[in-house]
Amino acid sequence: MPSVFIKTYGCQMNERDSEAVAAQLIAKGYSLAPSEALADVILLNTCSVRDAAEQKAFGKMQNLAAEVRRHRPNVVLGFMGCMAQSRGQELLDQLPDVDLVLGTQKFHRAADYLDDIFAGRRAKVCDVAEETGSEATIREHLLNGDAAAKSVTAFVSIMQGCNQHCTFCIVPFTRGEERSRTIADIVTECRELVARGVKEITLLGQIVTSYGKREIGVCDGKSAFVQLLEAVHEIDGLERIRFTSPHPKGYGDDLVEAYARLPKLCESAHLPLQSGSDRLLKLMHRGYTRERFINITHKLRAAKPDIGITTDIIVGFPGETEADFEETLSLAREVQFDNAYIFKYSPRKDTPAATLPNQLPQEVKEERNQRLLQTINEIGARKYEACIGQRQQVLVEGPSRRNAARLEGRTRTNKIVVFEGSPRHIGQLMDLKIERAGSFTLYGDPAIVNLDEPVPQIFSPA
Ligand code: SAH
Ligand code: F3S
Repeated sequence: MPSVFIKTYGCQMNERDSEAVAAQLIAKGYSLAPSEALADVILLNTCSVRDAAEQKAFGKMQNLAAEVRRHRPNVVLGFMGCMAQSRGQELLDQLPDVDLVLGTQKFHRAADYLDDIFAGRRAKVCDVAEETGSEATIREHLLNGDAAAKSVTAFVSIMQGCNQHCTFCIVPFTRGEERSRTIADIVTECRELVARGVKEITLLGQIVTSYGKREIGVCDGKSAFVQLLEAVHEIDGLERIRFTSPHPKGYGDDLVEAYARLPKLCESAHLPLQSGSDRLLKLMHRGYTRERFINITHKLRAAKPDIGITTDIIVGFPGETEADFEETLSLAREVQFDNAYIFKYSPRKDTPAATLPNQLPQEVKEERNQRLLQTINEIGARKYEACIGQRQQVLVEGPSRRNAARLEGRTRTNKIVVFEGSPRHIGQLMDLKIERAGSFTLYGDPAIVNLDEPVPQIFSPA
């Protein structure tokens, strides 16, 4: 049977989709190729959120067509995911070497279509149609796909799509309308993962706080998302729950209370801000004000004083003035984010913001990006330094990405900790004393916590 190599661009949703496609192909007899040079099928799972991400995947496919195809004419080349969805047939027209274009509601058809292509039943396939029920098809997992690393963490897709229609964002077009899986279906998947050794599950969706709004609704004052968190929390053997991405407007009191009530729910929140200016938040159609956003962070910190709060910020949205940008800088200082992903605004096809007047020049975006980055780095450095001397619980995930001779894991607040350990620690929850802080990384010592010396604890024992 043919071998497959999948290259993934973009967010965790894409990582998860690629994993599910890989698992599906393996179940049908395909194997995973260790590199694209050895693969019979090369699939690019694409991102459309910014133009640069699309250009990267497009350029990669041009290279594959020129290099790989020349030596191995029978290699199958395909696009899948967001760019496949938004461009469809256009990709086949522009790149005649491409054989397969698979949209975001069709991942589960990958094996069928590849079979058709290999059997000669079809020369090319482009399927970007909508499909009822497709939200429940991202189910299969590839645990221990990388033999060196035991899978102790897993992503579970709980919904597809987004109805918020922020004026800058292409996601509602590439991922479609919000559709949620059932709680029972999600819990079954989580149980299976835990039975296979997974200790931490991250619930995934484009706007998870809108989970089940239509399908399930509010019950006893609890949103469907909080009902889901409670159901997943019941699973024996599961140690940690995370989720991404929420929308700030979804942080009602029920969700804030869930942090205080559910011990498995990690003290970490990714709260995409986008801008600190009310004028821009309105133009972006974000659905909250600066004050409301700040209030949410106060409530979260009142429930969990050490909660890690990260964010996404866009600089250079059309018409952003220096005063607007300074509102973003001042909000970042006020909230003291643990980290932030900063994006330069990129006009996207069919989105309202792309046709707003006053599109800003690249130099302005670049300059604001640098200034905000510096502020975020300074705040982040102080936040990480403040962890020095603390005792923190870490779930050990595997060899460190920075130094394979060491191990790494994450704190409950979602900070990476690197330390010296042995492979038998992988998959364990360990208490480490934080010795040192580097750039958005902590360094810990497992030996010290075994001594009886009192070390400051930020989480009280259960
Ligand atoms: N809720 C989604 C958002 C996806 S886009 C999630 O899962 O995170 C991720 C981030 O990309 C957004 O929060 C936003 O900060 C940024 N982004 C989206 N569209 C953008 C655009 N047109 N230009 C620049 N950044 C953008
Ligand atoms: Fe995009 Fe806004 Fe939804 S950023 S994914 S439209 S919440």
